[in-house]
Amino acid sequence: MKKDLLTFRDLSADDCEGLFKRSLELKEHHAAGMPDRTLVGKTLGLIFDKPSTRTRVSFEAAMVQLGGTPLFLSTQDTQLIRNEPIADTANVLSRYLDCLAVRTYSQDLLNELAAAASIPVINGLTDLYHPCQVLSDLMTILENKGGLEGLRIVWVGDGNNVAHSWLNAAAILPLHLVVACPEGYQPDEAILKAAIEDSKGGIEVITDPEEAVRDADVIYTDVWASMGQESEHGLRRKFFQPYQVNEGLVAKAKEDVIVMHCLPAHRGEEITADVLDGAHSIVWDQAENKLHMHKGVVERLILG
Ligand code: CP
Ligand code: NVA
Repeated sequence: MKKDLLTFRDLSADDCEGLFKRSLELKEHHAAGMPDRTLVGKTLGLIFDKPSTRTRVSFEAAMVQLGGTPLFLSTQDTQLIRNEPIADTANVLSRYLDCLAVRTYSQDLLNELAAAASIPVINGLTDLYHPCQVLSDLMTILENKGGLEGLRIVWVGDGNNVAHSWLNAAAILPLHLVVACPEGYQPDEAILKAAIEDSKGGIEVITDPEEAVRDADVIYTDVWASMGQESEHGLRRKFFQPYQVNEGLVAKAKEDVIVMHCLPAHRGEEITADVLDGAHSIVWDQAENKLHMHKGVVERLILG
C-alpha cells in the first residue's frame, strides 16, 4: 500500500531513525561527490499554491540529484484554478507521476487529495503542519548534538504549523519539548493535548520565554505571522515582542545552545540580526539539510 507523509504522525520512531540515517549518508555522499542515482525514471510533481524557496528548490534538486525528474505545477497554471475537483486532479496525476509534494492552505484539502491519489503524497506545508521541516531540523540537531534524548528543545513564538509538527514529533520521539507562546497564540488545543498524552520525553507549556529558555540546548523560532496571516502582522507584533529571540534571551540558555529558524526570517522581529547571524545560529546548515532529508523522504516513499 502506498504511504503518504501528511503529518509527522504518519511516521514511526523506526521510520524516523531510518530517514535520519539515510539522509546523513546521502549528505556524506553528496559532499564526497559520489552520486546516488536511485530514482532514475521517476517523477515528482510539486503542486504549490503558497510561495516557497527552500522546500520547492530542495525537493527539485533532490529529484535531479537522485536521477529523477521534478515537475513544478503552480496551482495557477493547472485546471485547479478553474475548479476541477481535487480528487479528479489527484486521480489523473497518479497516472503520470510517482509522487506528489503539495504546499497549500488547508490540511483537509491535502488529505482529500491524498485519499484520491494512488501515489504517495507529501505535505510541503499547510496552515496546520510542516512535517518535512521538522524531519530535517531533527537531522540537524542530531548532527550538532549527537542525539535527541535529554535535550531541552524550546519553541519560542507562535504556536503555528511548524510548532504543531514539533508537537507531533514529540509524540513519537524521546524529545523534551518546551513551548513558549503568548496567550491566545498557543498551539491548537487538540494537537497539544494528543501530543502530551503520547509524549515520549515530556512536553511543557510555559508562557514566560525567559523561564522557557533556561538551560535550553536548542532555541527554535519562526515568523510571528505565517503565510495567509499577513493582515494580522501589525497586531501580532505587539503581543510577540517579549518573545523575540535576541542576545539577552539566548544568554539565559546553555552556553552551547544552538539557535534554529526554519526561514524565511525577519531580522529585528522574531529574531535579531546579531543572533541569526551569530555564533549560536545554525540556520544555514539547517536549510541545507532540507535537501538531504528530502532525498531520503522521496526515496523512501517512491521505492517503498
Ligand atoms: N522553511 C521553508 O519551508 O522555507 P520555504 O517557505 O522557502 O520553502
Ligand atoms: N510558519 C511559516 C513557515 C514558513 C516556512 C509559514 O507558514 O509561513
